[in-house]
Amino acid sequence: MKARIVTLPGDGVGTEVTAAAVAVLEAVAEHFGHHFAFEEHAIGGGAIDACGEPLPAASLAACQNADAVLLGAVGGPKWSDPNAPVRPEQGLLALRAALGVYANLRPLQVHPALAALSPLKNEKLKGVDVLFVRELTGGAYFGAKTRTADSATDECKYTVAEIERVVHRAFKLARDRRHHLTSVDKANVLETSRLWRNTVQRIAADYPDVKVEHQLVDSMAMLLLTQPSRYDVVVTENLFGDILTDEAAALAGSLGLLPSASLGEGRRGLYEPIHGSAPDIAGQGVANPVGAILSAALLLRHSLQLEAEARAVETAVADVLAQGPRSRDIGGQAGTAAVCDAVLVALKGHADSARAFFSGARACG
Ligand code: NAD
Ligand code: IPM
Ligand code: MN
Repeated sequence: MKARIVTLPGDGVGTEVTAAAVAVLEAVAEHFGHHFAFEEHAIGGGAIDACGEPLPAASLAACQNADAVLLGAVGGPKWSDPNAPVRPEQGLLALRAALGVYANLRPLQVHPALAALSPLKNEKLKGVDVLFVRELTGGAYFGAKTRTADSATDECKYTVAEIERVVHRAFKLARDRRHHLTSVDKANVLETSRLWRNTVQRIAADYPDVKVEHQLVDSMAMLLLTQPSRYDVVVTENLFGDILTDEAAALAGSLGLLPSASLGEGRRGLYEPIHGSAPDIAGQGVANPVGAILSAALLLRHSLQLEAEARAVETAVADVLAQGPRSRDIGGQAGTAAVCDAVLVALKGHADSARAFFSGARACG
């Protein structure tokens, strides 16, 4: 197949991990006979430096014309002055809103070989397989903001329609998994959360085969650490989802491991690791590229419908996590490029067997 993929490497380690993810997608194209055309554009701090805006019109237009968008990370100390008139993160938020990608899927699995890196005891990590569905284009991130010399406000607003569409998405995803949905809110305090909970309760009637539970966000932060294997699909609003998923990354062993897919109504999606620009290690070539590479696998699955290819990438990554080489954040010494090269070698093997399997299946069908 042919696909147009826009890359937005962004700032800090964003450029380093995106290069690895692109190398993997190029290898997928070669092994499976696809043609992916890559177009790189500016976003974030680099775009502010180059043209004064964190999301230049040309970058947005390219994303709107692409089949999928692969993003690294934005931001960094250079642009973090709280009084700055414009910030890199505004570019990312504007992109999510413009693409209408309201459902942010953040899968979490704990690779058995990495369980020792987690601050939790090994036995708690067995069978951990959670899919967070974070609402991505509403809530406090996008409400009106005010600032005076001695006060500031961030409005948190949700409409029923905004809640419905992401909750329906979460229920459907639960149906393809273990039929268990946990909705996280703060309904004991926040009006937006009470609307959220009402809406989930009403929609639940459409999915009688899915078991639903409601959990307050403060206790959920604790339960994620004490009983992580209880959870299947977890749906929540924008800010809670941001915080809980970085917490959840600690279970996997590193923030550098987790991918994400941001989806709207069509097939076009925005794919990015959940981590940021990691200023403390940027420019050293030591960032873990796994979160970005697994985001590329999600791109293959959700935007290009290439399931065998997505699985080949995920299996290759699992092999490398098991056998090494590993980056520093997960206890190894390898740089970004060495980890990426190992994934490419493993991928070649899995691509050969995936092709053989799928051509055999076709011959039988
Ligand atoms: P961060 O995610 O950049 O880093 C947190 C910690 O995790 C650091 O110690 C870092 O070294 C480590 N880490 C992150 N990614 C890693 C990787 N791939 N391999 C190894 N270690 C990794 O969070 P922060 O320091 O709070 O934020 C830095 C900047 O990134 C801020 O400007 C923030 O706004 C931005 N940010 C951007 C995104 C995004 O673009 N999607 C996401 C989060 C944060
Ligand atoms: C993320 C990041 C972003 C968010 C920031 C950089 C705007 O933390 O993608 O998780 O809060 O959504
Ligand atoms: Mn975040």
